[in-house]
Amino acid sequence: MAPVEPQLGDSKNIIVSGGSRGIGRALVRYFLEAGHKVYIFDINEEELEHTTKVHLAQYNKDGKLDSALCDLRDIKDIREKITAAAKFFDNRIDVLINNASIASPYWKDGKTMEDPDTFEQWQAYMETNLTSPFAMSQACIPYMKQNAAEIENSQAQNIHGAGPCIIHVGSFRAHQSDPNQEGYAASKAGQLGLMHAMAISLGPLGIRVNLIAPGRIKVAHECKEGDENDMSFAEQVSEKDVGDHPTNRAGRPRDIADAALYLINAGFVTGQDMVVDGGALRKKTG
Ligand SMILES: NC(=O)c1ccc[n+]([C@@H]2O[C@H](COP(=O)([O-])OP(=O)(O)OC[C@H]3O[C@@H](n4cnc5c(N)ncnc54)[C@H](O)[C@@H]3O)[C@@H](O)[C@H]2O)c1
Repeated sequence: MAPVEPQLGDSKNIIVSGGSRGIGRALVRYFLEAGHKVYIFDINEEELEHTTKVHLAQYNKDGKLDSALCDLRDIKDIREKITAAAKFFDNRIDVLINNASIASPYWKDGKTMEDPDTFEQWQAYMETNLTSPFAMSQACIPYMKQNAAEIENSQAQNIHGAGPCIIHVGSFRAHQSDPNQEGYAASKAGQLGLMHAMAISLGPLGIRVNLIAPGRIKVAHECKEGDENDMSFAEQVSEKDVGDHPTNRAGRPRDIADAALYLINAGFVTGQDMVVDGGALRKKTG
């Protein structure tokens, strides 16, 4: 029997959390351009409305894109909105990208961990950056898992696509810190453990799980204000942004989308921490 060719161009149903601005918005756009269907979760109503109805309006009109306002610190909200997303996708979710986070790495207002006020911020980091990827994944599993026949087929090398997958968006700060980043760094390092544990547990369900750890990525242009001021990626880039990276350039949101598109189609890759940082972690400074 002739082997079935992998169909890398297959359209996938993809959920992106935190997809209204920044890296998430770029992920959504590149996925749509690659022919996939996308559903966004975000708590920022203004940005969500702009991304869905203005920035990517045509995809929304064509039924390729929809979104839901969701507080990822609220488990009930997550479960309700996953049900809505599954309905949009005819009950089949192929890819979940856990991208939403409190993305600022430092304690607010220049505080240090010695200040008791940081305890509340610690809880916010944990709930948003670590608990919500767990809760989102848990809610998606019933719509992602493969049946026994599909898994048997892929084991026989008659692979049809790469199967469903979950990608956590972590950070290089899981591996390296500046002062006063305990909450952010611990939540991002926690995602690493969550990722490899899930990769092992969900293997029998045919779901792959990986993590992309971005380095410094310039995102100020990927939002409503950036669009309204016609802001570009290039105008944010300083000489230091170039010099810090062995790749001789600053990080683009597109770099994270390229990594995600690779992982979505990489059927033999699971349990991996893919650092996308222009080589900065490898460079000795001082
Ligand atoms: N930009 C970088 O340099 C960089 C570096 C390392 C890691 N990262 C990671 O990449 C991801 C995206 O970062 P970004 O720079 O685009 O950040 P961003 O702040 O621009 O976007 C984060 C998104 O998450 C959403 N969000 C936050 N809390 C939420 C909640 N409770 N419920 C629903 N949505 C919520 C925000 O509204 C926002 O749209 C994050 O996980 C971040 O930690 C970014």
